[in-house]
Amino acid sequence: MNGRTEHGPDRAAAAYREVYGAAPAGVWAAPGRINLIGEHTDYNDGFVMPLALPLTTLAAASARDDGVLRLSSGDVPGSVVTLSVDALSPDARDGGSWAAYPAGVVWALREAGLPVGGADLHFDSSVPTGAGLSSSAALEVATATALDELYGLGLARPEAARLCQRAENDFVGVPCGVMDQMASACCTAGHALFLDTRDLRLRQVPLDLAAAGLRLLVVDTRVKHELGDGAYARRRASCEAGARALGVRALRDVPYESLDDALAELAGAERSGGDGAVPRRVRHVVTENRRVAEVVRRLDAGEPAAIGPLLTAGHASCRDDFEVSCAELDLVVEAANAAGALGARMTGGGFGGSAIVLVAEETAGAVAEAVGKAFAAAGHRGPRIFPALPADGARRVC
Ligand code: GLA
Repeated sequence: MNGRTEHGPDRAAAAYREVYGAAPAGVWAAPGRINLIGEHTDYNDGFVMPLALPLTTLAAASARDDGVLRLSSGDVPGSVVTLSVDALSPDARDGGSWAAYPAGVVWALREAGLPVGGADLHFDSSVPTGAGLSSSAALEVATATALDELYGLGLARPEAARLCQRAENDFVGVPCGVMDQMASACCTAGHALFLDTRDLRLRQVPLDLAAAGLRLLVVDTRVKHELGDGAYARRRASCEAGARALGVRALRDVPYESLDDALAELAGAERSGGDGAVPRRVRHVVTENRRVAEVVRRLDAGEPAAIGPLLTAGHASCRDDFEVSCAELDLVVEAANAAGALGARMTGGGFGGSAIVLVAEETAGAVAEAVGKAFAAAGHRGPRIFPALPADGARRVC
């Protein structure tokens, strides 16, 4: 294959030239991610541990001096969305359109008082949409990274991630946490990102699985259950209700050691009408934060194989207490573990999307095959399975 047809800076720049009639000032890349551990903890001010994938969204871009914003995408050939940066507003947005994500980033940067004007942007992405691998965050962070340099904003990466989250929350209207944007902006190759989502303090934790004879597989189930959309907001609301009932700022402030007391307190409150969901949601968040700390401890101790059982325990908690898994994700975990994986779990928001599987190198093939067979036996479409190699966060590529 030549450079013009393969995903990469050359193709993005060539497509930009075709759409806008001139070469772009540059091409910037922002990756998708998986999350090793720490699910549904980010909107509870908790801990997460994502890593960036080699899959990226590329933004070929140039600034314009007339306040016009033009957006095009390799996924929607032949269509250019033209907007005026002055007229950008959450009320006027087309939330269903992919263009709401980059437009929202321009809006959020300007809302923050940053001197951003017009631009021409063309996107070319290898991050699959709907796979739970953060294609939205990659699109947002690619936009922010391009505009940061084109307009000389000097944004710190965590600040850029926060503004991308604001774009998604307040412009697109999705109540996500900050993990995906932070992963896309701040990850580094060969590391997982240990992140405190309250103050965005972070540490790059070395993750050289190959040196330990291990592999981390991504299993994209290729299903996305519709019910995920409203359910995410409801999970978030339950967590906030739990924090209010316990008198803490966020569930992150409930120590693992006092979980039993907290659950007893919530059970008392629930007797007057709740459905028992809030205590289970709280238990997931508190135990999941604990699992993140334990995974970090084992990685720091040079025992990566020992994180396997924590991944599987995290999955059980997502499935039973947080109720964000689905039959296909459960099947990946079950089939992989039965075939000798060290551990497995869903990754990302849930209700479809992807799972991750930790395996010893020599069993990786057999485990992948077992998952494929289990899917065929259950009548599901074959999953897409590929290794997760921790890659770099956002950067200029040309
Ligand atoms: C989605 C959201 C993230 C996070 C995860 C669950 O990916 O965008 O902010 O809440 O779900 O951990």
